[in-house]
Amino acid sequence: MEQRVIISKDLQTELEYAVSQCRHDRLFVLTDDVTVNKCWNIIKDYKCLESARMITIPSSDVNKNISSVQHVWTELSRLGATRHSCLINLGGGMVTDLGGFAASTFKRGIDFINIPTTLLSIIDASVGGKTGFNFNGLKNEIGVFNDSRFVILSTVFLNTLDINNILSGYAEMLKHGLISDTDTWARLVSFDLSAPDMAELGAMIADNVKVKERIVEADHEEKGIRKALNLGHTAGHAFESMAIKRGKPMLHGYAVAYGMVCELYLCATKMNFPLDKMRQTVSFIRQHYGMFDFTCNDYNELLELMSHDKKNVNGIINFTLLGDIGDIHIDQTATKKEIFEAFDFCREG
Ligand code: GLY
Repeated sequence: MEQRVIISKDLQTELEYAVSQCRHDRLFVLTDDVTVNKCWNIIKDYKCLESARMITIPSSDVNKNISSVQHVWTELSRLGATRHSCLINLGGGMVTDLGGFAASTFKRGIDFINIPTTLLSIIDASVGGKTGFNFNGLKNEIGVFNDSRFVILSTVFLNTLDINNILSGYAEMLKHGLISDTDTWARLVSFDLSAPDMAELGAMIADNVKVKERIVEADHEEKGIRKALNLGHTAGHAFESMAIKRGKPMLHGYAVAYGMVCELYLCATKMNFPLDKMRQTVSFIRQHYGMFDFTCNDYNELLELMSHDKKNVNGIINFTLLGDIGDIHIDQTATKKEIFEAFDFCREG
C-alpha cells in the first residue's frame, strides 16, 4: 500500500484529512504511558478524534514484545474494532513499529496512520513500512513490511524531548546526510547541537526525511539500495546489544553514531572515503555523543554479536560502506583484522 508522508504545517487539518481518507467505522489511538501524558494532550481536543478510543501500552524498548502486541489485539477486539477500523499510532518508534504490526495483522490488516513524536521516529522508524517487535532477545525479529496510509511529521512534539532524544534522532539525520550529498552533510555537521535552533532543525528535518523517502520508494523491501540506510548499523547494533546485555541500554541513535565512527574507518581504509570528511564527521560525533565504553577484551563478543545480524548472508557480516558522501557501496564485507582495527580507531579518541 502506498504511504503518504505529510510534512506538517497544521497538524489538526492534516490529521482530519488523513482520517477522512481512511475507512473507519471506529477510530483508535495507540500510545504509551509516557507519550499519553506528554503528547496526547496536544491533540486530544481535535474534532476528528472526538470518538477515538485509547489503547495504551507500557513505554520503552523492553516492552516492544508479544505481550504488548497481544494487548493491542485484545483491546481492539474488546472495543469492537472491525476490518474497517483505523488505528492512529502516536509515539516513538516502539509505538509506530509495534502498532503498525498489530494493525497489519488484526483481521488480516486494518488501516493505520503514524504520528511520530520522537525525532528518531520522525526521521526513520515511522517512514518506510517496517513494522514489528522484539522476540527471543532479538530486536525487531518478528515483523512485516506494510505501510501506514499516512505519516504526519510534525515538529510540535520536539519540545517534549530531552537533548538525549534529540541527539538520538539526529544521528539518523547525520546518516542520511552521509548517504545523500555534501551540502546536506555539511549543514548537519555545522549545526550547533549544544543549543539547537528548533526552527533551523525543523527545516533540516523536512529535507532530511526526503532522503529516506526516495530510497524507500526505490526499494521498499530492502533487496538493494535500501541497505544504504544500514550505514553505521552493523557495528551500531552490536554496541546496542552489548549495552543491553550489560544492563545499561542506550538510545538507538547513540549506538548508530558509534557504529558510524567504526564504519567510517572501514570506508576510509577500504573505499578511500576522504579523510578530511571522515575526521570532521567523527569529531562531531565524539563531541556530542562521546564514545561507547569498551576495551579490546570486548572485541570477540562484539564480532559474535555482529555475526548474528539479520542483514548477513550465509553468516558473512554485511556492511554498507561509502567511497565518498553519497557514493554508496552495499553488500560489503570486512576481515576480522579490519573490524578489530575499526574498534581500535573508535577507542583511540
Ligand atoms: N531503519 C532503516 C530502514 O527503515 O530501512
